[in-house]
Parts: sequence; structure tokens; C-alpha cells
Amino acid sequence: MSKISLEELASLAKRRGFIYQGSEVYGGLSGTWDYGPLGVALKRNIMNLWWKMFVDDRDDMFGVDAAILMNQKVWQASGHVDTFTDPVIECTNCNSKYRVDQILDDEKKYLSEIDKYFDNAVGAVSKFPELSKDYTDEQGDILGKIFGEGRSPAFNTRQDLVEYLESNRILAKKFQGIFPHNYLTHNKTTCEKCGKILWSEAGLFNMMFRTTVGPTGTYVEDSKANYARNISAEFYNDKDENTSNARMPYVSDVNTVSFYNKNSVSYLRPETAQGIFTNFKNVVDSLYPDLPFGIAQQGKAFRNEISPRDFVFRSREFEQMEIEYFIDPTTWEAEFEKWVKLVHEWCEVLGLPKDKLHELEVPEEDRAHYSKRTIDFEFDFPHGRKELLGLAYRTDFDLMNIQNSSGKSMDYIVKGSNEKLVPHVIEPSFGVERAIMAVLTSAYTEDEVNGEKRVFLKLPDHLAPIKFAVSPLLKNKPELVAKAKEVYNALKKKHGSVTWDDNGNIGKRYRRSDEIGVPKHITIDFDTLEDNTVTVRDRDTTEQKRVSIDELTK
Ligand code: GAP
Repeated sequence: MSKISLEELASLAKRRGFIYQGSEVYGGLSGTWDYGPLGVALKRNIMNLWWKMFVDDRDDMFGVDAAILMNQKVWQASGHVDTFTDPVIECTNCNSKYRVDQILDDEKKYLSEIDKYFDNAVGAVSKFPELSKDYTDEQGDILGKIFGEGRSPAFNTRQDLVEYLESNRILAKKFQGIFPHNYLTHNKTTCEKCGKILWSEAGLFNMMFRTTVGPTGTYVEDSKANYARNISAEFYNDKDENTSNARMPYVSDVNTVSFYNKNSVSYLRPETAQGIFTNFKNVVDSLYPDLPFGIAQQGKAFRNEISPRDFVFRSREFEQMEIEYFIDPTTWEAEFEKWVKLVHEWCEVLGLPKDKLHELEVPEEDRAHYSKRTIDFEFDFPHGRKELLGLAYRTDFDLMNIQNSSGKSMDYIVKGSNEKLVPHVIEPSFGVERAIMAVLTSAYTEDEVNGEKRVFLKLPDHLAPIKFAVSPLLKNKPELVAKAKEVYNALKKKHGSVTWDDNGNIGKRYRRSDEIGVPKHITIDFDTLEDNTVTVRDRDTTEQKRVSIDELTK
């Protein structure tokens, strides 16, 4: 059980300048979030630490920073255009849309009911003697129970009928077709928005944000443009086809009709991984690293999530930190295990308690289309045990797709031999937003100081957005303020992330520092003027020590 609820976490994050709702002043834009002064510092600390641990501190890792917009062929070859979908169901009363697996009351119950239903149906028809032209009365009765009275489709053979049922079982287990509709209706699940039970069938929704590249595409279609076109035709007394067919390009996005040229379509990348794969050959040509080696990238990813929810956990725009670690395929099991260990090390660096981190071996039917083995590292978030990051053995799926669709060889020539191979990859994929949520959840601590409840963020020093707070004991004593400024400037020069606080009494200042996780609060008092020492108060223990300014700024 988490110490903090999701609502409390979001409220603290907003109040203290970590994370705000995106476009909040205009009512927000669902699934988007803005980072405030403390949030941006925390996020950068996490991303920089990751880069140091996985790129700078290693000899076998190389960074890239690929463009977010990529040639549409990237997403066709990777399978995203065809398969990067989530099952969607609509309330036909208010048109609210939901991701099917998120609106079912109990996913396991749904799946087991589906299996029971199809086991019975397949069991019953498997006992049929081979089908004749018309179903017998007995067959008709059984099929009526499966498909509905008088609605049994015709099949030539019993095997066709069984195959049809099995393909529907797969569809149903992927939350598609009429089955989610039936389940929700039967269980009287109401629309979260309008409260009605009027569900559509479930379909598939591709989560990539589509856009067009270049000025091709959007033309004005209003009467003004037609008028202008006619004048122009009269003016030149030129009625030939080229003139009268000319359309006026128009830059406004409003009240226009779009004529998209298929070739101008692009997508906001839904994962950073493809920018790594498409640069594999470039990096090999530039640096020719020894195998195994990794290419790392950090950056934005975009997914048009059907139901963004749970604070930043499921956002439409988020940040990923991904590595494709290229290996000889015969070594994949050992390399995979090395990465399991490294992921645990990373979680330790983030200060995540071991007992809140769990490995989920993802079964084959739930794995992404490209993966032969996946471990989801789950964390006990305030809203339950959920995926924090993923580790997948992606085989040579992506490099082979690129090779086949571009016609360019993705071969790597093994050094010291003429052996050529297309490397396989192990892919650790880290989401920054989920790391931030896990860090804040783990750091959130409540205790009692002098009989009063205290809330503080026990952030590891290397992640704390602000390392020191500096206060003059009294803000109306110029000599204290001047000395405190001296200390503040010296620390700021050294550490950058230092804050000044002279508001309210000292107790309130400590509480403010605690709530944003400042490890040390420094107070300059009258003794400082005498002996050049300051009070350094520790966030976690609340202990106060006298330390000389020289020692502090060293
Ligand atoms: N390249 C593989 C890949 O993208 P994924 O499991 O879809 O795999 C990897 O995503 C990580 O990205 C997740 O474990 C999570 O941390 C983060 N992530 C994915 N979708 C997200 C979303 N909508 N909002 C925030 N983070 C997300």
C-alpha cells in the first residue's frame, strides 16, 4: 500500500511547482503535462544520471538524437502502421470512447468467460458428423445457441466452422468485436460519463499521431477563393484548364478542406527506438564498434492514448530513454540476464525500495509483436502495481524489416573474420514520467516533529532538484541578510541548484524545504557574524549542526 494517493501526489506536484496540467489556463489538454521549475530539475537529474550510467560511464555505448518526424516508411516497416493499436469501444449515447481492457470490471473474468464460451462451442461442433448442405435440426439448434436463432453462417466443412470459431476466440481475447459489448451489457457496466449502457462493438484504434510534412495539403475552399479565381481567369482572359483549376494555397488551419498527398503523411514517433534502428548502419560506418555494443537515445514519444489517466502515468506526450543493445544472437540469453541486473541497479540509484519493484515475465500471447522475451518491471504505484519499464529481446526483427524494405544491407562484419551477421537486440526501455512518479512515491514520507505531522520528500541527494536552501535568521537585519547572500552566492556558484528563503519563521521555512526534498537547509544567525559558522539542518533527521562557511563551500 502506497503512503500517498494519486490525488495527493498530483496535488503536491502542482502546489510545489513540479508538474502542471498541460494548457491548464484554457481548461487543459487531456494527456499532456507541463513541468514546472522543480519538475524540470528533477526530470533532468534523472535523465542526466541515466545518460551518465548507461552511456558516459561505458565504452560500449553510443548516443544518438534522431529527428522526431521520420519517413513514413519507418513506421510501415516496423509494423506500427498496421499493428500499433488499442481496442476501443464507444458509448453510442454520448460518444465517449474507452480502451476496452480499462473499462472491463475484471479483465481475468472476461478472458475466462470467453474461453469457457468458445470451449463449449468448439466442443459441441467438433462432435458434429461432417456438415451436409443444410444443417440438421439438431445442428441448427446447437448453432442457434452459438450464433443466435436463424443467424448461423453457412460453412462447407466442420473444420471451417471450428476455424471460424477459433478465429473469433482470438478476436474476443484481443478485446475486439461484439464480445466486449456483450460482456459490458450483461454486467450492466455504465458509461463513466453519461451513465447509460449503450455500447458499440469494439474496434481498433491506431495510437500514432498523424501529421503531414511540407506545404502540400491544405487549401482554402471558401467562396472568396472561388471569386478570386474567377477574376483571375477573366483578367487574363484565359479560360484554359490550368488557370481555372488553380487552387489558392492558404495557411490558415481553420475552415479549410484538406487534400492530403499520401506521400506527405508522417507520424510523431510513438517510441524512440526506431530512431536508433534507422541509425544502426550510420553508427557502424562512423565508428565500427566491437559487437556487442549499444545505441542509446532519450527524447519525446507520442501516443494518442484512448484514455490517458493516472496523472502522468499514461500520457499522450512523454519522454523515453531507450537502448538497443546489438548482440550476436547466440549470446542473447546471457546478455538478457546482464540487463536484468543493470535495470535493478538503475532502480536502486533512483532510490526505489526493492520490495516495491517486481519482475513480470510477459507470456507469449501478451508480448509485443517483435519480442521473443519480455520482462515488465512493475512498481507499486499509488494506483496499483503497474509497468515502470520494459526489457525485451527484440531479435533481428527491426533490422531485418529495415533491410527488406529499404534494400540496404544491415550486415555487421565480425571483426577479425569475414563473418557477416545481422545483429539481434536486447532493448531496455525506460519511461521518464513513470520514473518520476516512482521516485516521488518512494520519497514521500510522513513523520512527527515536536508533536506535529511533517511531510517530506526523502529524495536521494543526486536527484533532489534543489540541493541547499539558505536563510538569514531575520530578514530585517541587513548584516544577516548580507552574510546569508554571501553564503548563498558561494553555494550557487558551486552547485547551481540553491534556493533563497526568507519568508515566515524558521519552522515554516524548514517545512517548505522538506516538502520539496531539499537535503540541507542553512541558516545564518548572529553567531555567524562572530565565528563564521552556520546552522546546517538535515532534512531526514532534522538534526542541526554548526559548520564553518569554509568547510561548507568547499
Ligand atoms: N520501444 C519499446 C517501447 O516503447 P513500451 O513498453 O511501449 O515499449 C516503454 O514503452 C516505456 O515507455 C514503458 O515502460 C513506460 O515507462 C513508457 N511509456 C509507454 N507509454 C507511456 C505513456 N502513454 N505515458 C507515459 N509513459 C509511457
